[in-house]
Amino acid sequence: MSGSRKLNILGIESSCDETSVAILSDDEVKVNLISSQHFHKNYGGVVPELSSRAHLQIVKPLVDSALQSANININDIDLITATAGPGLIGALLVGLTFAKGLSFSLNKPFVAVNHIEGHIFSGFLMDTKPEFPMIVLVVSGGHTLLLLVESFTKIYLLGTTVDDAAGEAFDKVSKLLGFGYPGGPQIELSALKGDEHYIKFPIAELKNEYNFSFSGLKTAVLRFVQKNYSDKNIPEKDLNNISASFQKSLVDALIQKVSLAISNHNVKSISLVGGVAANKKLRNEINNLADQFNISCIIPSLSYCGDNAAMIALRGFQLYQFGRRDNLRVKPYPAIPENHFLRIGQD
Ligand code: KG4
Ligand code: ZN
Repeated sequence: MSGSRKLNILGIESSCDETSVAILSDDEVKVNLISSQHFHKNYGGVVPELSSRAHLQIVKPLVDSALQSANININDIDLITATAGPGLIGALLVGLTFAKGLSFSLNKPFVAVNHIEGHIFSGFLMDTKPEFPMIVLVVSGGHTLLLLVESFTKIYLLGTTVDDAAGEAFDKVSKLLGFGYPGGPQIELSALKGDEHYIKFPIAELKNEYNFSFSGLKTAVLRFVQKNYSDKNIPEKDLNNISASFQKSLVDALIQKVSLAISNHNVKSISLVGGVAANKKLRNEINNLADQFNISCIIPSLSYCGDNAAMIALRGFQLYQFGRRDNLRVKPYPAIPENHFLRIGQD
């Protein structure tokens, strides 16, 4: 948008257990506030009703803080964006309704954003931008998607998980090892002290060469624990070895499919996004893979890996530039709409 005044974009994210508010000036992040609902730890997972209530309490103060930090007045916001789905309906409803209310009262345009698209393009929040065409691996608590992205509007789905998402596998294995929720960071910490060759957990073979399956891996860990330890009495050394071996199998499975996708498509970059992209082993291996193929690798910094409103505002801004305007009848949706992403051979 050279020559024209930069736009101030407000983004609101409330799809799960993070309330986040961001303000961008075009594609530059001015502020990205994230309020995490840590109390879900006590329940071993996210409790939807409690999540909605917490979003409701924090969304307005967080918008006020964001405006204050960015040093701009609410009337200077040019575009309002919010996550419409996928996610927990009650949680989504809070951020989406608040954003629609602002759009109505300020008489400013509104763009509803798909949370996964927010993750897909989150690499563009970094100084070094991904280049099209690119392979994107989305790994979060709810989703595992392998995509070929040719432009801001051409997103092809190559593969997805047939059962658990990668983050979900981390969370479930963490629970059965007694670490608690969220599991990824705790397994990663334990794995650092363990031997990843301690036990070889299986990698699923699937009909669609780009699909993933992690429930067999989770069951293999469970069987191993049941067979070798009574009453969850696992010595710390063994816990670390199991964590490291599990993490290796899961990362190997992801890398195998990403490698295949890069081999079969002529791409310029690879981008690793979503909450599980915080995992250091996965980050290192994706970086190594990119080096092998001589393509660039863009992995967002940690604050843009987990759920955040900066990626929502950025995606909203991209869509706005393509002419997208949403009316205020937009409703939240729990899952990715069927055929939302293109399939190869389809335009
Ligand atoms: O993208 P995200 O913040 O929320 C969803 O949209 O799901 O992802 C959350 C997931 C959780 O399953 C969490 O265990 C996982 O990301 N995660 C990690 C790490 N940090 C967060 N998994 C592996 N290693 C990590 N360091
Ligand atoms: Zn997410």
